[in-house]
Formats: sequence, C-alpha cells, structure tokens
Amino acid sequence: MRLEKKYGRWALITGASSGIGEGFAKRLASENMNLILVARREERLKKLSDELKEKYNVSIVIAPVDLSKENFIEDLKEFVEDREVGMLINNAGFGSAGEFAKSDVEQQANMIRVNCIAPTILTHYFVQQMKERKKGAIIFLGSLVAYQPTPLTTTYSATKAFNLFMDERLWYELRDYNIDVLALNPSGTDTEFQQKANTSSGPAPRTVEEVVNTAMKSLGRKISVIDGFYNKLLSFVPRIVTRKSIVKLAGSVRKKYYTSLSIIK
Ligand SMILES: NC(=O)c1ccc[n+]([C@@H]2O[C@H](COP(=O)([O-])OP(=O)(O)OC[C@H]3O[C@@H](n4cnc5c(N)ncnc54)[C@H](OP(=O)(O)O)[C@@H]3O)[C@@H](O)[C@H]2O)c1
Repeated sequence: MRLEKKYGRWALITGASSGIGEGFAKRLASENMNLILVARREERLKKLSDELKEKYNVSIVIAPVDLSKENFIEDLKEFVEDREVGMLINNAGFGSAGEFAKSDVEQQANMIRVNCIAPTILTHYFVQQMKERKKGAIIFLGSLVAYQPTPLTTTYSATKAFNLFMDERLWYELRDYNIDVLALNPSGTDTEFQQKANTSSGPAPRTVEEVVNTAMKSLGRKISVIDGFYNKLLSFVPRIVTRKSIVKLAGSVRKKYYTSLSIIK
C-alpha cells in the first residue's frame, strides 16, 4: 500500500540535515510524502528541501529547531501548525568515544536530551493524533550497540538501548491503534556521525541508502531490525555468552581497534 494511504500525507524527520535522516527524506519524497525536516543547520535543510521539491513536487516545511532545548516542542509546533503527521522518524542523534570519566558531562547530558528525551516528547505529542486517526508509523534509531553493552561509548550505547526498549514496549501498546513502530538498528554507516563522535565506521561501513532500505522493508512487518547481515550475526553473540563476558569483549575490541586508529587515547 502507498505510504500516504497507509499513514497519511506528512512525515516528520529529525536530524534531516545529513546522513540517515537526509536519506529518509530523499526516500520518502520519492514515495510522494510531504515532509517536515528538523535539524539545527537551516542552510542544509533549505538546500535539501529545494532539491526534493524540484525533483518530486512535494510540499516541504523546514524546521530549524535545537532538540536539546528544554522547550523545543513549542518551537517545533510553530512549524508543524495543523499538519497531520502520519510518520515520525526519530532519527537525530550523536555519540562520543572515550572514557566516560574523562568526558564533558554537559555533552553527555545533551546526548541524553537529543537521543532519548526528544524522541520521548515527540512521540508522546504525535501519537495522540495518530491514535485518533487510527493510523501512523514511528521509527526509533537504535544501533547495534543497543544489543551489546559497549564501553568507551558508554552514554551513547545506553541511549541507543533506551531507543530500542522504547520501540519494543510501544510496538505492543500501539498495535491496537494500527500504528506501526520500528527500531532501526544500524552499525557503522557512512555519515558525519563518526567524525563528530571521534570514532570510526569500522572495516565495512554500510551506505545510508542500504540502511534506509532496511527500515522501509521492515516497517509494519517487524518490531525491530538490524541493518546488514554481519551486524545481525554480531547481535547474536550477547545471547550465547554471559553479560559480563560481552561487556569485556566489546570493551577490549573497542580499545584495541580504536586505539590502533589513535581515536581513544
Ligand atoms: N552512522 C552510524 O554509524 C550510526 C550507527 C548506528 C546508529 N546511528 C544513529 O543514526 C542516527 C543518525 O545519525 P547519522 O549517522 O545520520 O549521523 P549525522 O550524519 O551526524 O546526522 C545526525 C543528525 O542529527 C541532527 N542533530 C544532532 N543534534 C541535534 C540537535 N541538538 N537538534 C536537532 N538536530 C540535531 C544533526 O543535525 P544538525 O547538526 O544540523 O542539528 C544531523 O542531521 C543517530 O540517531 C545515530 O545514533 C548511526
């Protein structure tokens, strides 16, 4: 079924100014969805909006909003107005690498605001309308690190586990209202994420198009999905060893691999 018929005409994508969010914007515009694009870098959003309007003749609203701000939802409502958002893509997020004790605690707190608090507030706001209309879709961006507690990116790994947990519980609560909920869990993907997080996308990064395709194939069919065959295999390891072992293993892999890249000192 066409997306607009299944969910409604408007999709709101957070973190649409680059990477996976930009990939979702391109994919959904190509499927005739109108878009509300959210991120801080207005120029980037404007450029993407112009490109997609020209190519697909869809309506686009750009919403330069900082999701780490306490009252961001009030700013966002001014851009959304009375548009009926049928798809919510909770994609915006960032990470960091290194020892937690040496990190900037305000940065860690901001990460929780953007990666966890913003999706919670956005979902709570838009789900009311979806429930009334008895249709909708919500995607949370988890990660492979949501499945395996990963030291040296501690807060980030915890925020991604939060996203996966929110997804699974909400999937159950919302299925009676015909609302599809999905956690998309990529691993190393070729975006700006790694550079900002001072980390690496690993030996075989996936493309944004592959990741978005995985999500679109799984939405409405699965509760959550891990992008990429090898990532799926890796996600099984925590199921067959003790929790302590997986933490030690994940920690030493990160230490060895990333220290050799001089990322974690
Ligand atoms: N790339 C990977 O390897 C990977 C792997 C697993 C999961 N993920 C997840 O995928 C999602 C997208 O990441 P990406 O890889 O596409 O990284 P990216 O290219 O760095 O994109 C991150 C997006 O989040 C937005 N954002 C960050 N802070 C924001 C804030 N305070 N307010 C509003 N928007 C904000 C950024 O926009 P502005 O800077 O313009 O605000 C940008 O559009 C994240 O949730 C990440 O955890 C990525």
